[in-house]
Amino acid sequence: MSSNLKNELSADEWDEVNFPRAEENEFDRVVERAISRRGFLGGVLAFGSGAAVMGTGVLGLSASEAKASVSRFAFKPIPTYTDATVHVPEGYSWKVMASWGDPIIEGAEPFDDEIGGSAASADKVFGENTDGMESFEYQGKHLLAINHEYANRAINLPQNENGTPQSAEDVLKLQNLQGVVVVEVSQDDDGWNVVKNSPFNRRITHITPIALAGPAAGHPLLQTAADPAGTLALGTLNNCGSGKTPWGTYLTCEENFNGYFGATETPPVARMAGVDAGYQRYGINEVGFLYDYHKFDERFDITQNPNEPHRAGWVVEIDPTDPTSTPVKRTALGRFKHENAELVIAEDGRVVVYMGDDERGEFMYRFVSNGVYTPGQPTDGLLDNGTLYAAKFNDDQTGEWLALTPETTGMSEAEILIFSRMAGSAVGATTMDRPEWVSANPKAVEAYCCLTNNKNRGVKPNAGGDDTSVNGPNPRETNKYGQIVRWRPHNKDHAADTFDWDLYVMAGNPEVHEDLRAGSDNVNAGNMFNSPDGMAFDETGLVWIQTDGDDSNEGDFAGMGNNQMLVGDPVTGEIARFMTGPKGCEVTGLAWSADRRSMFVGIQHPGGTWPDNGGKLPRSSVIVIERDDKGVIG
Ligand code: FEO
Ligand code: CA
Ligand code: CA
Ligand code: CA
Repeated sequence: MSSNLKNELSADEWDEVNFPRAEENEFDRVVERAISRRGFLGGVLAFGSGAAVMGTGVLGLSASEAKASVSRFAFKPIPTYTDATVHVPEGYSWKVMASWGDPIIEGAEPFDDEIGGSAASADKVFGENTDGMESFEYQGKHLLAINHEYANRAINLPQNENGTPQSAEDVLKLQNLQGVVVVEVSQDDDGWNVVKNSPFNRRITHITPIALAGPAAGHPLLQTAADPAGTLALGTLNNCGSGKTPWGTYLTCEENFNGYFGATETPPVARMAGVDAGYQRYGINEVGFLYDYHKFDERFDITQNPNEPHRAGWVVEIDPTDPTSTPVKRTALGRFKHENAELVIAEDGRVVVYMGDDERGEFMYRFVSNGVYTPGQPTDGLLDNGTLYAAKFNDDQTGEWLALTPETTGMSEAEILIFSRMAGSAVGATTMDRPEWVSANPKAVEAYCCLTNNKNRGVKPNAGGDDTSVNGPNPRETNKYGQIVRWRPHNKDHAADTFDWDLYVMAGNPEVHEDLRAGSDNVNAGNMFNSPDGMAFDETGLVWIQTDGDDSNEGDFAGMGNNQMLVGDPVTGEIARFMTGPKGCEVTGLAWSADRRSMFVGIQHPGGTWPDNGGKLPRSSVIVIERDDKGVIG
């Protein structure tokens, strides 16, 4: 090949021309083993001597007992829908509990169906685009902490052409509608409602002061003119998934923070060494996602404040019981496009946090604390001192957590945390198909991660140049449907550095495709879906799966309908559809009441004008689902 031709091809294209993959190879057989129910979910073949762990260790059921048992799902699965409302099974009902714009704090204006309310009132109302959510019981009160992930400019500034901000006030309105809300909720004859003006109600926005803690706090890369110490940031950005600590705090995860930054000069002024590479890897550029904050709020102008983007992309800890508390960005958990943070306590009491970086070809991470958690004892420093790891999945269905240290990466401790993606690349972590939520099974020592889809798989490398050819847990090129990988730590210890893995499900369309795109054996015409994203285990060990995918119901997605929530049995592999959302929405965020008789579910970016189908603006909302007989759900 001439050097000219090489220059015209991407690294992957050049590789494909020069080293074409064989028609069938050992890798295809790995995939076959990884997705076959017979070989895997039944636990008979794939794990060899580990079969006992798979077949009898989980939930105390042997493979044959699991097969013989009746379905654990207490409902009749529902079909797909393509309409503008929510559907739940027979014997269940739903209602809207809170919607964008609902007044929750003293002084808030009522919702304005023309423009959605003023900038000044936007931090006193239920915010926009609900996402991650957790429940807390405190002094006999029921609190919910809920993320407000992003703003829809055209919906939140409907008076402006394309919703483009024209003033500092427009920007302030968007900044105030996002972040986090803490609300007290209570139940009466009318079901669950937000307690308006409760002293616990609180909005945390793109402006709220938030401390930076952990090893990267105070580093020169986190210092700005407004905060020369580099220890107090303003705002939490793009709050996606969530987590909860056993000591009663909420974890909110900053995902696509890059989109809020822009530059007033092109190219931006010269920056510190290393910053440009970070901008490139994290997608920080002159225009962002067209929020135009930088034109009216200089903090978001990377020309003037090149370090401000380093102060976002973290996991933030919030005490939902104290509305005066300062939230804390925990830098020890790394900086990337955090989806959620699933916290489990290891055998020896150390705190383990599993986290995904939702970008095509990026990595999965784990934090293990140095200290141990002892109920009732102080927890200071537990999330500030420890080791960050990135996941490596081998094709033989084993894997290991690779420690990100100065020795393994050649980076300083602070650099590892601020530029975790580069640290992951340095150790050769496995490129993944957009890791979304991680959830751990409370009934078994195992965890699951939704890998939502990845059109770049096998097409081009990630932004760091890492190869993204198909690999064990990411077995399909241009992956349209997504899959859920699960791993079982060795020695039944979440702090162990090695694990076994399989695919719990590979989503697909068996009506349209016969190859790998048909999905795994536990996917059929009656339960198919695409793009698994939100996920949470209930206390009985069933896994609830929410989707954020293509709801066109056509072509490759024919028969899948609107985005939905399904429930899976980890032992049998059975998956059933429980709920469908209104057209255009994503179903994301899930929490239960303390008595588990009510389920809170988030509906993000609904289409049309749901839930008031006679209104003028669609309103992201949290709904409550209950059984008509008031029985326990999950
Ligand atoms: Fe905010 Fe990756 O979802
Ligand atoms: Ca998500
Ligand atoms: Ca998603
Ligand atoms: Ca979303």
